[in-house]
Amino acid sequence: MSNETNRRDFLGMSFAAVAAVGGVASLVGMKQAWDPLPSVLAAGFTTIDLAKAELKPGEPKTFKWRGKPIFVLEMTKEQIAEADKEGLPKEYHLNIGDKTYTVVIGICTHLGCIPAWKGVKWKCACHGGEFNPSGKQVFGPPPKPFVVPPFSVEGSVLTLGNTGPQSKAMIDARA
Ligand code: FES
Repeated sequence: MSNETNRRDFLGMSFAAVAAVGGVASLVGMKQAWDPLPSVLAAGFTTIDLAKAELKPGEPKTFKWRGKPIFVLEMTKEQIAEADKEGLPKEYHLNIGDKTYTVVIGICTHLGCIPAWKGVKWKCACHGGEFNPSGKQVFGPPPKPFVVPPFSVEGSVLTLGNTGPQSKAMIDARA
């Protein structure tokens, strides 16, 4: 084999190697361009594991989803009995096993302030609106109950931003 042939083979293999590396690099680049940014994923979906959230019955906790406060309250037996007395359907709340929860967007349905929990209900400091533990407006100008966010349920884990039958039933129960 001549030196000239060896040189041509070497150059050919070098070009092939460079092309292969370039091809892989551009595929990686394209995948990165198509994939949603981690910040977008984080903003779109939020998971809450109710079993690990250390909720105390009767004391709501506030989570955050897409920049909005999400109130989650594990209801006490008394609060459930009160909701039954008011005639609220079972679907008004999220029921998992023997537990009942209120899961709502914590924004006042009057003009958008964020109400605070005051022991037995949420009170809105802006114009005095009040919401009971089920998230239903009971006093003042709010025209509607708190809004239920879209979420799905798997075991004890809620995925906010992903509409499931439970949140749909809750939304329908408040319509
Ligand atoms: Fe809450 Fe007006 S914004 S009562």
